[in-house]
Amino acid sequence: MNNQLIIDCRGVAKTYDEGAGELTVFHDIDLQLHAGETLAIIGSSGAGKTTLLNMLGGLDKPSRGEVWVAGENLHAMREKPRSRFRNKTLGFVYQFHHLLPEFSALENVAMPCLLGGMSVSEATQRARALLTQVGLAPRLKHKPGELSGGERQRVAIARALVNQPRCVLMDEPTGNLDEQTADQVQALIQELTEELQTAFVVVTHDHRLARRMQRVSRLDHGRLVFDAVAGEA
Ligand SMILES: Nc1ncnc2c1ncn2[C@@H]1O[C@H](COP(=O)(O)OP(=O)(O)OP(=O)(O)O)[C@@H](O)[C@H]1O
Ligand SMILES: [Mg+2]
Repeated sequence: MNNQLIIDCRGVAKTYDEGAGELTVFHDIDLQLHAGETLAIIGSSGAGKTTLLNMLGGLDKPSRGEVWVAGENLHAMREKPRSRFRNKTLGFVYQFHHLLPEFSALENVAMPCLLGGMSVSEATQRARALLTQVGLAPRLKHKPGELSGGERQRVAIARALVNQPRCVLMDEPTGNLDEQTADQVQALIQELTEELQTAFVVVTHDHRLARRMQRVSRLDHGRLVFDAVAGEA
């Protein structure tokens, strides 16, 4: 169980058509991640980090190559089963949080559980527990527009974790957070890898966070270079 391959990304390339020519974001990405493993992806702005996460999460289609998640060929699935599978298996923290503006923090976090068919009382209980863990117990009823940037980010993190997914993809999860709150997020990641064998792919410019992941890779000129020294990033 521990050694199960959760992400198997084989020869993935992404090219955008750009009127005059083509923009190749990356050429040939191979990436494997097992249950309980944590990986940081670093790289300069525009290097393709978000694009890569979107491929791993099934939100965008590779131009070439395959992405297998927990034994399923993600981009070979039809849209409906893929989105159901995604809701059950993957958690996503977006660079721009995409919270639902008309719902409270508690409702936003409970939503993925409700979509998966969980009862309202159990979903609410889980959502409350996670929001408490990220320090938001006093803000459960606030809507996103009534929260600070860092608070919204923490709601997005709680939402990504609430379904206990096999793998969580995070795009700059600590970008707006102070050190102490970033440490809480990092502790939560560690707890979930140990207790539930959750795998994490974390795109980050935060060197402290990157250094605490088991592996660090850098996206550079369309290639993923492993075991970069985070301190030099
Ligand atoms: N839909 C699109 N059409 C054309 N080009 C795109 C599209 N989306 C992204 N790009 C280009 O692909 C490259 C990679 O973008 P991406 O958002 O993955 O970068 P990033 O590494 O996440 O950067 P940042 O750290 O600033 O978030 C950029 O040069 C961007 O301009
Ligand atoms: Mg990005």
